[in-house]
Amino acid sequence: MAPKTLEDLFTDGVKDIYYAERKIIAALKKMIRGAQSEDLKAAFDTHLQETEGQVERLVQVFELLGKPARGKTCPAIDGIIEEGQEILEEFKGSSAIDAGLLAAAQAVEHYEIARYGTLKSWALQLGKNDVAKLLDQTLQEETKTDETLTQLAETKVNVKGQSKAA
Ligand SMILES: [Fe+2]
Ligand SMILES: [Fe+2]
Repeated sequence: MAPKTLEDLFTDGVKDIYYAERKIIAALKKMIRGAQSEDLKAAFDTHLQETEGQVERLVQVFELLGKPARGKTCPAIDGIIEEGQEILEEFKGSSAIDAGLLAAAQAVEHYEIARYGTLKSWALQLGKNDVAKLLDQTLQEETKTDETLTQLAETKVNVKGQSKAA
């Protein structure tokens, strides 16, 4: 077998994030249903639609790479999503549910920011500028979402979560 290269690492990373984005779509749908705050539901819904676009963008990336769009199980995102599921179940009906969901969602965004940041820089190193541009568009959306969630946490959701009754 030929020695593995940065190109192989990059392809594996794209497969990983393709798997992750599709898991995130399913998780966001549950989080929209579980959230109490209308603002938080709206933020999750906006990002759900963006995430559907991000999956399409990854399909374009696979096309540019001349590879079939195929996911690869990513244990990191599985763990992060599982933790979010636990919050959904354990804090159902609690005034702290939104604070918990916000924290879970930010863990997802930070994971994505780390992965897209790495993939974009590898794409540039490999001279795949078109691919890097697509990955950067998604990176910008993830960063903006993270900022929106921070703002929600600081202004509304966590403040409310401190009270005993919703
Ligand atoms: Fe995403
Ligand atoms: Fe995201």
